[in-house]
Amino acid sequence: MSRTPLIAGNWKMFKTGPEAVAEATRLVELASGVANTDIMIAPTLLSLPLVSGAVAGSNVKLGVQNLFYENEGAYTGEVSAGMAKAAGAEYAIIGHSERRQYFGETDDAVCKKVKASIDGGIIPILCIGETEAQRDEEKTFSVLDKQITNGLNSFCSRDLDPLVLAYEPVWAIGTGKTATPEQVAEIHEYIRSLINRLFGNELAMSIRILYGGSVKPDNVSELMSLGDVDGALVGGASLDADAFIQIIRYDR
Ligand code: PGA
Repeated sequence: MSRTPLIAGNWKMFKTGPEAVAEATRLVELASGVANTDIMIAPTLLSLPLVSGAVAGSNVKLGVQNLFYENEGAYTGEVSAGMAKAAGAEYAIIGHSERRQYFGETDDAVCKKVKASIDGGIIPILCIGETEAQRDEEKTFSVLDKQITNGLNSFCSRDLDPLVLAYEPVWAIGTGKTATPEQVAEIHEYIRSLINRLFGNELAMSIRILYGGSVKPDNVSELMSLGDVDGALVGGASLDADAFIQIIRYDR
């Protein structure tokens, strides 16, 4: 089964509104004509409506970096899937390690957010990954197993059709340390076999599994050549349209 690659940029807490619009406008120019690859950027929530105008009608789609699982209510500082969608988001990054680490996000909350995304018509990109200490203690597989099992608790495979997974070893995020192709291949294969075990072969074959963690123009081709790698979630190198387009055009 062929899976359309997804190259997603997580802009984290960078760029003001005008800066985000300028970068997105440049990316739209550079990416016009790119076919057979899905492209997404996730600016800050404040920039989202502005950037939405800049990418309208192009092949650059938008995402949010987080959302809350209730539709509306007294939840200071949060936005819902419906609000994100109304502002132009088609994707939501869920359970990024920075949210887990700095904002106490649990697998239980992650699971509710995945459900809220799917119910709200937003494609969730569920992030999973082990810390350096967990890898050193040889807990990588059990950590991933728990994050996936609990993060997708009580779903059935039919509901998970839109789901995207992103394997992001925490020790590789923003550090310049990329996991080796052997490490990435081993983990992605494990994740796909876990999805097979939990939800069956059809979902396991169709689900896109992205790699994230210091993806750059000079390492993307090797990562994307691995059979179970279906795209990349890119932080630092997505902030500059000229670098990001080289990642998007990894096979050219
Ligand atoms: P990085 O970030 O590319 O800067 O390592 C990846 C991510 O956090 O998604």
